[in-house]
Amino acid sequence: MGAENSKQTVVRVFGAAISVAFFGMLHIPSATADDMVARGEYLTAAGGCYGCHTIPGDGNKPYAGGRALKTPFGVFYSPNITPDGETGIGGWTDTQFLTALKTGISPSGHPYFPVFPYTSYTKITDEDGLAIKAYLDSLPKVVQEDKGHEVSAPFSWRWLQWGWRLLFFNEGPYVAPEGASTEVARGGYLVDALTHCGECHTPRNMFGGVDASLYLAGTPNGGEGEFVPNITPDNATGIGEWSKGDIVSFMKTGLKPDYDDVQGSMEEVIEHSLSKLTEEDLTAIADYLKSIKPIKNVVKRASAS
Ligand code: HEC
Ligand code: HEC
Repeated sequence: MGAENSKQTVVRVFGAAISVAFFGMLHIPSATADDMVARGEYLTAAGGCYGCHTIPGDGNKPYAGGRALKTPFGVFYSPNITPDGETGIGGWTDTQFLTALKTGISPSGHPYFPVFPYTSYTKITDEDGLAIKAYLDSLPKVVQEDKGHEVSAPFSWRWLQWGWRLLFFNEGPYVAPEGASTEVARGGYLVDALTHCGECHTPRNMFGGVDASLYLAGTPNGGEGEFVPNITPDNATGIGEWSKGDIVSFMKTGLKPDYDDVQGSMEEVIEHSLSKLTEEDLTAIADYLKSIKPIKNVVKRASAS
């Protein structure tokens, strides 16, 4: 009986090995590509690309650009990042895409305006950047010409960006704080590289460079003149009194611990980006926010009524 059994076992194992090899050959390449697109979809949500690259309410044209972005320097219009070859970014190589995303330089060599937050995206890993590209490449092509920016001189002079970059752009990968746990390091990567909280929550100087000494400490006059609160763990002026759970549930629902509803651009950040993240990643963000230096910075709503 032992012999009979072991023969069956050999046949079964052999059969299984053949089917693994066979289906493996058939399925693994496409499964990997699908996985990359799925991962890219998640990372694209984390990066908040949709909000800036889609006209609100225009449900048919996600990522086709044309959204007006008001800044103190004028109105910028986001470009089409669907895979259309003429009006979008179809046909861009991996290197062209990573160079745009992580260094703010276009395929033709011109510098982008930092309203495209490449200043944060520089910290995205190449692997994550390419997954984002794989996802964008998988979307339907939309034919829609880019619109010129309505920005007055000298802020409209693209070449001046070379000087701006020297002063305010630090190119390079994300570096976790010394001694950070795995969770805090993951949270820091999400905050600084992908979800770019600091692009709104850190105040800027008159040239639009972020003031690192007030990292995440808020500003009464953010993009579009908005009030942006202090999210450092300072008890009096930041969110020191929010529990980790309060922060996570705010990022999911927009509801603050005092039952106030979120407003303004943060509402969009939650709708299109943060609410799509896993509990694990949201918890990592909360862990990270709890770990940073508390900064006392009173930020008042400009038009408090
Ligand atoms: C805060 C708004 C904002 C966010 C968020 C944003 N973008 Fe953009 N993006 C822009 C603007 C504005 C430009 C055009 C900049 C210029 O003209 O110099 C741009 C340019 C680009 C370009 C260059 C396109 C071209 O035709 O040259 C690419 C590629 C791009 N964005 C991809 C992304 C991806 C991927 C994400 C998410 C990870 C993203 N963007 C998030 C505003 C944004
Ligand atoms: C596009 C700009 C923008 C980005 C990006 C952004 N925020 Fe905000 N955030 C705001 C604004 C504006 C408010 C004020 C909303 C309000 O008045 O209800 C806000 C409010 C908040 C609050 C509520 C604080 C309080 O005291 O009421 C928290 C917490 C917060 N943001 C966390 C984050 C985190 C974490 C990130 C990154 C994962 C982030 N935000 C990214 C603009 C932004």
